[in-house]
Amino acid sequence: MLKGKFITFEGSEGCGKSTQSRMLLEHLKAAGRQVKLIREPGGVAISEKIRAILLDKANTAMNRECETLLYMAARAQLVEEVVIPELEQGTVLLCDRFLDSTIAYQGYGCGVPVDAIRSVGLFATKGIAPDLTIFLDLDVEEGLRRRGAERDRIELRSMEYHNKVRNGYLDMAKKEPMRIMAIDGSLPRDVIFARICARIETML
Ligand code: TMP
Repeated sequence: MLKGKFITFEGSEGCGKSTQSRMLLEHLKAAGRQVKLIREPGGVAISEKIRAILLDKANTAMNRECETLLYMAARAQLVEEVVIPELEQGTVLLCDRFLDSTIAYQGYGCGVPVDAIRSVGLFATKGIAPDLTIFLDLDVEEGLRRRGAERDRIELRSMEYHNKVRNGYLDMAKKEPMRIMAIDGSLPRDVIFARICARIETML
C-alpha cells in the first residue's frame, strides 16, 4: 500500500526545477512533513554510476536505444531502493526528473517510439507514476545560458534537439493537464514557488 505522495519536477535544461525542488523540500520539512528529495538519473549508488556513463562527453558513440535503456536501468534501481519503500512509509517524495524526461529527451528529442518507452517504463517503474508533476517551461536558449559554459553529453546537443524536448513537454502537459502542472519558468523564483506551494497544499 503506497501511503505517500510522489511529486516529480520536469523541464528542459536550466529551467529551475532543481532550485524549486530544494525550496519545496525545505518548506515541507519546516512544516513537519516526512519528505525526501531524490534526482534522476541517480539517487542511489548504482544509478549514480549509470548517470556518470550517460553524461560523459566521451561517450559519443552511445546510440539512442542504449541511452534509453540506461536511463531506465538507473530508474529501476532507484524505484526498488528508494521510491517504493519511501511511498510505503508515507513520505512525500520529491523527484527531480522521472519517466517524463525519457519521453521528452529520448522520445520527442531522439525519435525513440514513445510507446516503446512507455512499455519499458512500466517494467522499470513497476507501474509507479507521479501523483503530480511540476513542469517548468523555459526558452531553451535562456535555459542553456543559465547553465553556463560547462556542458554534459546531453546539454551539448543542438538547439533543434533542445527545442524538440521542450515541445515534447508542452505536448505532454496539454495531454495530461490534471497530472502535469505547467508553470512559466521565466517568472521570478518566488512567484513560481508560491504557485507550487498553493498546488501542493490542495493535495497534501
Ligand atoms: P539533470 O541535468 O536535470 O540532472 O539531468 C541530467 C540530464 O539527463 C539532462 O540533460 C536530462 C537528461 N535525461 C534524459 O535525457 N533522459 C532521462 O530519462 C532523464 C531522467 C534525464
